[in-house]
Amino acid sequence: MAEILDGKAIAEKIKQDLAIRATEFERKTGRKIGLAVIRVGADPASAVYVRNKIKACERCNIRSLSYELDESVNADALIALIHKLNKEPDVDGILVQLPLPKHIDERVVLSEITPDKDADGFHAVNAGKLFLGEKGGTVACTPRGIIELIKSTGVPISGKHAVVVGRSNIVGKPVAMLLLQNDATVTVCHSRTQNLKDITLSADILVAAVGKSNFITADMVKRGAIVIDVGMNRTENGLCGDVDFYSVKDVAGYITPVPGGVGPMTVAMLLCNTVDGAMHE
Ligand code: GUN
Repeated sequence: MAEILDGKAIAEKIKQDLAIRATEFERKTGRKIGLAVIRVGADPASAVYVRNKIKACERCNIRSLSYELDESVNADALIALIHKLNKEPDVDGILVQLPLPKHIDERVVLSEITPDKDADGFHAVNAGKLFLGEKGGTVACTPRGIIELIKSTGVPISGKHAVVVGRSNIVGKPVAMLLLQNDATVTVCHSRTQNLKDITLSADILVAAVGKSNFITADMVKRGAIVIDVGMNRTENGLCGDVDFYSVKDVAGYITPVPGGVGPMTVAMLLCNTVDGAMHE
């Protein structure tokens, strides 16, 4: 039976430390660290994520500024808000919750956030710094949280075969870069990958970020592997990961639950990015 990686508990510890740093910032500067959170439209999952992020801000003595825009808002209005927040001295981080409505080009919108305030690390400058291994950029929250979870096992990443299933800009690509920076041998798989099972079976570290419920089954997992489940799939049986937890837990060495694994770590890392950003000004 695998050891369960308790993301909720690890995130709680990180938030305790952040609350101390944020309070110290306020004592020194006379103002609170501020995070602007923009949500467009009525996507129910986004509403839950944003609520969690705002609650976590309160807990860490970070001021959250919440902007809820109508589904029909045009890109120019959204960009105008971003430009205003870019100039606001009390705003240290800006986050645009994804996905945006189909009529808005996410890449165009994200590129308007000043890279110094890009709490999500999605701007091309920050993604580029990660790619080049340059210090000082903001690293995307979920990938950063995944690395923390892997490190919490105490198992060295160096030299291990890490297999990432999924190639999104938010998770798959940046987590592959971080694993590479930590000296793993990295394979990125996706929907066109042939013989997927042969590849996942050789993974010492398996990161599942495909968005398909119970996609990774026990027969695809090497005994003793570290299995990180990034999935958040809403099914008729409730919230469900990309990993078939009940069978995989008997094969893996370590496994993250859904919920309570990667999700809370993403929120903690968002706050970490915001506090780091405020301190570096
Ligand atoms: N949608 C799904 N994950 C994320 C995330 O980490 N940040 C933002 N802004 N939107 C998301």
